[in-house]
Amino acid sequence: MESFQPVFESSAKPGELENKTLDPKSIFDEFLTNKRVFKNKEVLSSAFVPDAITHRNGEIEFLSKIMAPSLLFERISNVLVYGFSGTGKSLVTKYVGKRLASSAEEKNVNVLPIYMNCRLENNNTEYRLIANLCGIFNINVPESGLSVNSLYKRLVKIIDAENKYLILILDEIEKLIQHAGDGVIYSLLRLNESLKHAKISVIGISNNIDLKSTLDQRVRSSLNPVELIFKPYNADEIYDILEVRSKEAFYDNVITEGVLRKCAAFVAQEHGDIRKALDLLKVAGETAQQRGLSTISEENLDTAADSLEQNITEGMIKSMTKQSKCVLLSIISVARTKRMGKVYSGEVYDAYLKLSDKFALKKLTFRRVSDLIADMDYNSLVMSRIKSHGRYGRTRELNIAFSPSIINKAELIIKDELN
Ligand SMILES: Nc1ncnc2c1ncn2[C@@H]1O[C@H](COP(=O)(O)OP(=O)(O)OP(=O)(O)O)[C@@H](O)[C@H]1O
Ligand SMILES: [Mg+2]
Repeated sequence: MESFQPVFESSAKPGELENKTLDPKSIFDEFLTNKRVFKNKEVLSSAFVPDAITHRNGEIEFLSKIMAPSLLFERISNVLVYGFSGTGKSLVTKYVGKRLASSAEEKNVNVLPIYMNCRLENNNTEYRLIANLCGIFNINVPESGLSVNSLYKRLVKIIDAENKYLILILDEIEKLIQHAGDGVIYSLLRLNESLKHAKISVIGISNNIDLKSTLDQRVRSSLNPVELIFKPYNADEIYDILEVRSKEAFYDNVITEGVLRKCAAFVAQEHGDIRKALDLLKVAGETAQQRGLSTISEENLDTAADSLEQNITEGMIKSMTKQSKCVLLSIISVARTKRMGKVYSGEVYDAYLKLSDKFALKKLTFRRVSDLIADMDYNSLVMSRIKSHGRYGRTRELNIAFSPSIINKAELIIKDELN
């Protein structure tokens, strides 16, 4: 999550005379004396690695038991780790991987857990991923020019010579699959057939719980994963995690138990995303600090929740295709005529036909428009329920799911981009 960059707007009124140059020192001094909120803001960034992991001992135990036989150089099961965003999948899997690496070193076993985040551009194609693996073994690989096959051959040669067991932790593995296809996973696992001494196992992490069913049959059967699902944290668990984090992040007495509980309850309603909770605390703290306060109020938290929601919704709307934008605009315009009450997909389609004309877009069929609405439902922009009556056959009953304060802004963004 990016934090907001303030836009400069002069506070001087037009024509007003500035008769004395402002000395920034007064601003710096005020800033320093006002610095009563954050002890260490970094602690609230999701990249920060906490000393302690709470409420995930079951998952730590499960993963450790699966990985343990590798310390005897026995093949372990491949694993797929699933769960909603911010439920600690990366944190826990990396932690177990690190502890495995140190046990392996201590016991002098050649097990090498390697963590790669496939969201990052330098890991999301087959060539880059394998080139990076080669890089770990000091094999020099040009940016391009070699065939992927020759990269695989070099990799096989070196890990066999060094007798290594690679445990590849592929985080956000769906990004690799999107960019490079699922054949990469198959190719990596197939290397085991060419390896005489070394071994390779894969631990994939994803927030797409249906990932396995999207894999090609032959990939699925070579992966044959054990699956681990990270359940969303409940409000009490979120509170415990936030309490530890906020003690390091804020000075004493800046945040009360009540505000932390409110934050936890709010996030628990939305799949228990700890990253979102941390963002909320950060923005609430910034709001309090900007207002010269030394405690964070519930109101600061509400403001933070509004502005984060607004940012997320805006980002989502901006990244939609023109057709989806036109459909959302149709939903908003019909909802307006009904004072933001329920609307039906048939009515939306009628409005869409007019708007697509106005913005010179190709007219999609009712069915395609229904699919686009289903995508918006998936992304929590609208809530929909299938009703089986109506002029066009199967109709959906819809409600806009984002807060009313954003609707005007959303409409402006869409109109601006469609015009
Ligand atoms: N049990 C926990 N104890 C302490 N901190 C936690 C715990 N679970 C999650 N966190 C913190 O929450 C944030 C998100 O965790 P993490 O990155 O592991 O989520 P994730 O499940 O991998 O999410 P995504 O699917 O979006 O990648 C991190 O800052 C992490 O430190
Ligand atoms: Mg993650």
